[in-house]
Amino acid sequence: MSDQSNIIIDVHMNNQDPTTVKNEIREGLLSTPKKIPTKYFYDDWGSTLFEQICELPEYYQTRTEHQLLKSVADEIVSQSGAEELVELGSGAATKTRVLLDAMARAKQLKFYVPFDVSEGIVRRVAQELVEEYEGLEVHGVVGDFLAHLEHIPDGGRRLVAILGGTVGNMGAEAGPAFLSSIYDEMDQGDFFLLGAQLITDIDRLEAAYNDSAGVTAAFNKNMLVVLKSVIGADFDQEAFEHVARFNQEKGRIEMHLRSVCDQVIPIPKLDLNLCLQEGEEILTEISMKFTRHQVEALLTRAGFSPVEWYTDPQELHGLALAKKR
Ligand code: SAH
Ligand code: TRP
Repeated sequence: MSDQSNIIIDVHMNNQDPTTVKNEIREGLLSTPKKIPTKYFYDDWGSTLFEQICELPEYYQTRTEHQLLKSVADEIVSQSGAEELVELGSGAATKTRVLLDAMARAKQLKFYVPFDVSEGIVRRVAQELVEEYEGLEVHGVVGDFLAHLEHIPDGGRRLVAILGGTVGNMGAEAGPAFLSSIYDEMDQGDFFLLGAQLITDIDRLEAAYNDSAGVTAAFNKNMLVVLKSVIGADFDQEAFEHVARFNQEKGRIEMHLRSVCDQVIPIPKLDLNLCLQEGEEILTEISMKFTRHQVEALLTRAGFSPVEWYTDPQELHGLALAKKR
C-alpha cells in the first residue's frame, strides 16, 4: 500500500461555470463548419479508448516517441537539472515513466504534477506512481490547461512537458497562445519539453486515424456520449460515422463526425435545435504535423530559447527541449 500523504489532487473542472460550458459548445455548433472542443473526448471511457489507440498497430506515434524518449531521457534530465516534472495532458503517463526513471537515476526525482482534464486518470496515475517511485510526491491537477494553468503548484526546479501530439491538437491560433501562457507560468531557468508529430507520408498519417479495429471511430463517437452528460443532447451514435483525413494545405489531420442522414437534434439546455444534413460533418479534432523549423518557431515566438532537438531515425516524431532564460 502506498502512503496517501504523498498524493494531493486539486480538482478545478467542477468549478467550471455552466454558462461558460454551454456557450462554448453552442458557439462551436453554430460556427461554420460545426465543431466541438477536443476536451469533450476525455471522460473516463474516452481516456480508456485513447490508451487503446496508443497500442494500435497503425498508431505509430506513441511507440516512436516512447523509443525516442528512452534514448534521450538521461540527457534531458541532466541538461535540465529538474527535480519536478509537470506534465500537461498527462493521460496514462506511460511514456512519462521513462523521464521519471531518468530523474530517479540522477537522484533528482522529487515531484510529479500530472495535469489532465480527466479526473479518473489523474487519480489512477497518482496512485500508481507513488507505489512505483519511492519518496515521490504527486500533486495532480484536474483542469483545463487552456484555462487553469495558474493552479500548477510551485515546486523545485521544473521540467514542464507536453508529450504525444497534444500541441498539434490546438490549431494554428490556440497553439501559440497556449505556449505563451505556459511560458508565463514558468520560472526563469525552468526547462520545457515539447513533443511534436512530424510531417510524413499521407498514407501512414491517415491510417493512424482510421485503424482497422475501429477504436479511433469509437473514440470519436464517444464524444456524443460525453455531450449527452454535459448538455443533455440526445445524439444517436448510429446516425454518425467517423471520418479522418489529411488536409495537405493546412498540414493537419482533421477528424469529423459525419451525419449519415438528415436529422434534427433538440438541445433544450442550449436553446438550440441542431439541424444536420446527410453528409454534413462536425469537426471534432485536428492534429497538426510539424517540421522542426515550425516547432522551433513556435517555441521562440512564445519566448523560449530552443536548446536541443531530438528525433527518431525515420523523423516521424520530434522532441524539442527549450529553456526559459
Ligand atoms: N500525454 C499522453 C496523452 C496524450 S492525449 C500521451 O502522449 O500519450 C491528450 C491528453 O490531454 C489526454 O489525456 C486528455 O485528457 C488531455 N487533454 C485534452 N484536452 C485537455 C485540456 N483542455 N486540458 C487538460 N487536459 C486535456
Ligand atoms: N495528440 C495525439 C494525436 O493527435 C493523440 C490524439 C488526440 C488522437 N486526439 C486524437 C489520436 C484523436 C487519435 C484520435 O495524434
